[in-house]
Amino acid sequence: MDPAFADLDAFIDRTANERLADFLDLLRLPSIGAQSEHNADVKATAEFVAERFEKIGFEHVEVSPTGGHPMVYADWLHAPGAPTVLVYAHYDVQPVDPLELWTRPPFDPVVENGRVWARGAADDKCHVHAHLWAARAWLETRGRLPVNLKIVMEGEEESGSDHFDPWIKANSERLGADFALISDTGFYEGNKPAITIGLRGLIYAQIDVTGPQLDVHSGTYGGNVQNPANALASIVARLRNDDGSIAIPGFYDEVRPLTPRDREEFARMPLDDAEFVRDYGLHSVWGEPGYSVLERRGARPTLDVNGIWGGYQGEGAKTIIPAHAHAKVSCRLVADMDPNTTLERLRDYVMHIAPAGVDVSVKKVNDGMWTLTPIDHPATQAAAACLEEVFGEAPYYLREGGSIPAGATFANVLGLPVVLLGFTQPDCQLHAPNESMRLDNLDGGLRTLVRYWQKVADTPL
Ligand code: BES
Ligand code: MN
Ligand code: MN
Repeated sequence: MDPAFADLDAFIDRTANERLADFLDLLRLPSIGAQSEHNADVKATAEFVAERFEKIGFEHVEVSPTGGHPMVYADWLHAPGAPTVLVYAHYDVQPVDPLELWTRPPFDPVVENGRVWARGAADDKCHVHAHLWAARAWLETRGRLPVNLKIVMEGEEESGSDHFDPWIKANSERLGADFALISDTGFYEGNKPAITIGLRGLIYAQIDVTGPQLDVHSGTYGGNVQNPANALASIVARLRNDDGSIAIPGFYDEVRPLTPRDREEFARMPLDDAEFVRDYGLHSVWGEPGYSVLERRGARPTLDVNGIWGGYQGEGAKTIIPAHAHAKVSCRLVADMDPNTTLERLRDYVMHIAPAGVDVSVKKVNDGMWTLTPIDHPATQAAAACLEEVFGEAPYYLREGGSIPAGATFANVLGLPVVLLGFTQPDCQLHAPNESMRLDNLDGGLRTLVRYWQKVADTPL
């Protein structure tokens, strides 16, 4: 390890127990943003994070109200002439159901097999924690940071970021920076260090089909009225072609085609389809013909039914025609698709194919824009150098399939270059039961951030 960081590394070593205890305390707070019975827990988590930044010497610390969950803001701006970085992570977590599949309770974290097991351990509290302690390492060891930091931590990332854009717009004057650092991503297959350079966008909608005012007898009325569940099934069946491509007219019109260079880069990344299936408990690999797994994940759009319901689902038989049926449908979007255009095309097509005899509506649930960041930006290259120094290997550059709406907001509203640097291992089971975070990734991630602030100060941006 570089002797220039000996004092900072020593601080990290000697605070191991305190850091772990602090991480576990953060994980005990059930900050499930999507469920209103947890509103007070979400707020308590924001306060927990804000208090800690205040305690280590950050200023202008705020738990800033929005129409939904609060934003945490804090800054440290005493490095005149040095770059300013806007740092983002989210302190909310996904719901925990199905609870019975958790081996350990989701908000009672335990350390086992070199990992911390809890909801939010990987997504995204490890990064909230790592940023807090990277700043603390600098401030307690050297009394300063080499860069200026503005911290923005969100409580609605997992539930659609509805109030994020308005808050960023309203606060844009004080959010000026040289670039934004988003820490909410992770490493490549085999736990290889990686920097994410692409995220997909999202449009999430609900299709509602209604027929008779109440469920009716399927003998008396069957054959004489349309059935909402059958009608919904026929709509859903026509959204995709049998080969996995999407049947909505115009859906692919704006999709940026892969260049030969893009395809070379995807092909350079090792991925064994059979191993991928085995490691993640998948049935098999299936999807749009002509593209590899990584291309489909990073550069092709999708349409998936996330949930579908209606009618009788209890024991035995109940002979009814259900009054209504519903589906939640989401599309992952890539460059250069527009969420609203995609929603309009989905809606027009659903209305066009809707069977007679029922009312059909398509309403938007939420959306988010895709992000593509340049590999050659000096702030990205500085991150790559620090990852290599700490983890001993140059990082892969990933185009991920997930979405972080904040990325496009920082780029489009604030006009900032975006760097996506995170440390979770690929088998962290984010959004699933038994989420976990590897302690060695957390430790290495912290050392990477500590070095990154120095590297950013030393790099002409
Ligand atoms: N951290 C994830 C995004 C992510 C997933 C990045 C996989 C890299 C790989 C984030 O918390 C997330 O889950 N985002 C949601 C966004 C949605 C609620 C708008 C997603 O992708 O479903
Ligand atoms: Mn996340
Ligand atoms: Mn998530």
